[in-house]
Amino acid sequence: MGSAKRSDIDVRLSADDIDWTALKTDLVADDFDNGRSPDELRSSFENSFAVATAWDRGRCVGTARMLSDGICNAYLVDVWTASSHRRRGLATRMIDALLTTVPGQHVALFTQDKIELYKKLGFAEEVVGMSRVVGTWLRRDGHGTGPPSELPPAP
Ligand SMILES: CC(C)(COP(=O)(O)OP(=O)(O)OC[C@H]1O[C@@H](n2cnc3c(N)ncnc32)[C@H](O)[C@@H]1OP(=O)(O)O)[C@@H](O)C(=O)NCCC(=O)NCCS
Repeated sequence: MGSAKRSDIDVRLSADDIDWTALKTDLVADDFDNGRSPDELRSSFENSFAVATAWDRGRCVGTARMLSDGICNAYLVDVWTASSHRRRGLATRMIDALLTTVPGQHVALFTQDKIELYKKLGFAEEVVGMSRVVGTWLRRDGHGTGPPSELPPAP
């Protein structure tokens, strides 16, 4: 496991020593909770390809995870810096550390409003994902507002 010390905050390529209940509490307080229990958080992190965490005097104040097939495709998730520690370069350091674990791979992520952070880290905006509307959007096609027609009988 790697470790990089700059200023008073450690950034580690490890999820060791995380108090998952405390992390859950901090995520809820920061409005960055997606409903996982402490145990589910632990499983998410343990099942990741690589994990980066930031530490201030024994408290986990940042996380980021890399999902990867180990060959060509990777995906960055759970990028979070505690609100008390933002704009001090921690997300940058955690993501930089994770990127060292996936040389040669295409790294994707979804973000709506943190574009600058990722641009500074070398990410380029691109259209990712696919979607479809089944039939006409909101069924505004002039063909009635009743229930969907029944499926045809099986042959
Ligand atoms: C987004 C987040 C992870 C950034 O963490 P951070 O440790 O503060 O980020 P850094 O200090 O490494 O920021 C590096 C650069 O990114 C940009 N940046 C970071 N946060 C920003 C914000 N809220 N608004 C605009 N630009 C921002 C800035 O250019 C910043 O450089 P600067 O401070 O010199 O101006 C943190 O605000 C956070 O946890 N937010 C809530 C969860 C979230 O939105 N996660 C991202 C999901 S995609």
